[in-house]
Amino acid sequence: MCGIVGIVGSRPVAPLIVDALKRLEYRGYDSAGVATLEDGKLDRRRAEGKLVNLEERLKGNPLAGNIGIGHTRWATHGAPVEVNAHPHFSGNVAVVHNGIIENFRELRNELQSEGFEFTSQTDTEVIAHLVAKYLKTGATPVQAAHSSLKRLRGAFALAIMFASDEDLIVAGRNGPPLAIGHGEDEMYLGSDAVALAPFTNKITYLEDGDWATISKSEMQIFDLDGKHVDRAQQTSVGSALMVDKGNHRHFMIKEIYEQPEVIGHTLANYVDFNEDKIALRDMGNQENPLDFAKLDRLNITACGTAYLAGYVSKYWFERYARLPVDIDVASEFRYREVPMPQKGLSLFISQSGETADTLAGLKYCEEAGQHLAAIVNVRESTIARSSHSVFPTLAGPEIGVASTKAFTCQLSVLAALAVGAGVQRGHIDRETEIKLVSELSEAPRYANEVLKLENEIKELAHSLANKEHVLYLGRDTNYPLAMEGALKLKELSYIHAEAYAAGELKHGPIALIDEQMPVVVIAPYDRIFEKTVSNMQEVAARGGKIILITDKRGAEEVGMDEAQIILMPDMPEIITPIIYSLPIQILAYHTAVHMGTDVDQPRNLAKSVTVE
Ligand code: AGP
Repeated sequence: MCGIVGIVGSRPVAPLIVDALKRLEYRGYDSAGVATLEDGKLDRRRAEGKLVNLEERLKGNPLAGNIGIGHTRWATHGAPVEVNAHPHFSGNVAVVHNGIIENFRELRNELQSEGFEFTSQTDTEVIAHLVAKYLKTGATPVQAAHSSLKRLRGAFALAIMFASDEDLIVAGRNGPPLAIGHGEDEMYLGSDAVALAPFTNKITYLEDGDWATISKSEMQIFDLDGKHVDRAQQTSVGSALMVDKGNHRHFMIKEIYEQPEVIGHTLANYVDFNEDKIALRDMGNQENPLDFAKLDRLNITACGTAYLAGYVSKYWFERYARLPVDIDVASEFRYREVPMPQKGLSLFISQSGETADTLAGLKYCEEAGQHLAAIVNVRESTIARSSHSVFPTLAGPEIGVASTKAFTCQLSVLAALAVGAGVQRGHIDRETEIKLVSELSEAPRYANEVLKLENEIKELAHSLANKEHVLYLGRDTNYPLAMEGALKLKELSYIHAEAYAAGELKHGPIALIDEQMPVVVIAPYDRIFEKTVSNMQEVAARGGKIILITDKRGAEEVGMDEAQIILMPDMPEIITPIIYSLPIQILAYHTAVHMGTDVDQPRNLAKSVTVE
C-alpha cells in the first residue's frame, strides 16, 4: 500500500532515498517525503502527489545527512495532503510506516492526555509520539522503539530514526513486507528488494514480529521478546535495472505487448514441450510433492484480477481433472470460518505475493492443516515464503497498477496445473495430454496475432469513452473473463462497468438495457454459443449496443449486422481465456487513454494492497 525506505551510510542519502522510492511508487502515490539527520538535527521535505513533486521540493531545498528514511503514501487514515505525508516527527524521533495501526485511537487519546500534540490525522503519528514518550522516561532509543512496538496492534512495516544517533535506524515488521539490504559501509531498508536493487542484491527479509537495529556496518534482528533472531541473507533476483517503458507510452501497454513472451516463459516452466507432457515444477521447499489424486476438493483464494484468474481455473479443474473447486475473494474467505477438508489443498494466487487479505486467508488455511500452494509473480514474496508449494509466474516486474501480463501468466500456470491434475487423477489419458500440451504451446503465437488487432479495438474503445455504464457478458470461462473486462474498464477509465453470466441477463439486469448501454459480449464459437446469441438478441431488441468478441464461426452464426465485432483467430478451446484477455485489456486501455485518465497509476488504487 505504501513504500518505505531507510539508509544508514557514509554519503548524502536524500537522493538515494528518492531513487529507491521511485521504485516503490507503484505501491502508492498520494504523497511522499524524506527525512534525514545531520549534526543532531532531524529535517524533512514532504510533498503531495507523485514523487516528482518531492523531487522538485528537494531541488529547491536540499537535505544533507548520511542517514535518512523515506515514504511514498497510499492514504488510509487522513486525506492525501502534505500534513499527513510521512515521515512523521515527535521531538527527536522520525517515523515512516506502511500499514494500519488498529489501536491508534486508544494510543492517540493516551498520548494527547499526556500532552503530546498531534499535527496530522494519520495513525502513523502515534508511533512517533509513543517512542518519544518512552525516551522521556529515560529509555535508550532501542528500548523506546522496542517498548513502542510491543504496544502496536495491526499491520505495520516501519522505520524509526533518532536525532541522538546518526548510526541507527530501528525497523519493525508485522504484516507488510520489509527487506534489509547489505552494502559496503552502508545498510538499507525497503518495502521490497526491487527498491534496493540499485544498491545491493544481498537481502535479508524480516518475518512477522521481527524488529531490527540497523547501523551502517551491521544489522541485528530480534523477536518481540527481545531475543536475537537469525534470518538468512539471500541474493535477490529483483531486477537491478529501473524498469522503464521502452518505446511505449505507458507501462500498461508495454506489459500488454510483453504477453506473448512471458506467457511462453511461464508455460515453459510447467510444460515439457519436448516430451509433450506437463511437468509441474514446484519451486517451494515442500517435503511432500503435490498429488492431486489424493484430493477431494481444491480451495482457491485471491483478490481482484488474481481472483478472476482463479475463477477461470475453476472451470478447468472441474472439467479436465473432475476436481470440485471452492473459490472466494480473500476478504470474505478470511472471516467465513470455512470448514476445511483434512489434508486439503489451498491455492493462493497473487501477483505481488503481499496482499494482506490473501495472506490472511493463507494463515487461516495453515492453521487448518492445509497444503498451501501459491501462484505469485514475486518469488521472494511473503505469500511465496509462507507456502509449501510455489508455482511462480514468470511475467517479470509488473508496474502498471492494472494487472495484465500477470493475469495471463496466472492463467497459463493454472491451465498447466489443471491439465497436470487431470493426468494425475487419471481423467486425462496420454493422447489427450499430448493434444492439450500442443495446444498450450500455441498460446504465445496466438497472443502475438491478437495484438495486431490493437488499432481496430482502439476505434471501438472510443465508442465506450464517456459512457456512464457498460455491461460485460460471458458464459463458462468467458464469465470470469467478462468480470475481468469490467474490472479493467472500471479501474482504468473510472466508467461504471458490471459483468454478468450471459444467462443471468433475463433475471433482472436486462432492465438496464437501453440505447445508452454498450454491452461487451465475450463469446468464441463453442457448444453453448447459440445460447449467448439469444442473450445478444434480447439486448439488441432493446436498443443495446453490442461489441462482440468472437471468432469467424461466431461472427457468421450471430447474424446480427448491428453488432460491432472484434474478430479473433480460431484457436484451441483451452487457450481462449488466455488469449481473449488481450482484447479486453486493450479495450480498457484505449478507453482510458481516450479519456485522459492516469493509465499506469489510476486514482485511488495501489499495486499492492498490503492492508485489509
Ligand atoms: C488488478 O488489475 C487490480 N489492480 C487488483 O485487483 C489486483 O489484482 C488485486 O489487488 C490483487 O493483487 P495481487 O495479485 O498482488 O494479490
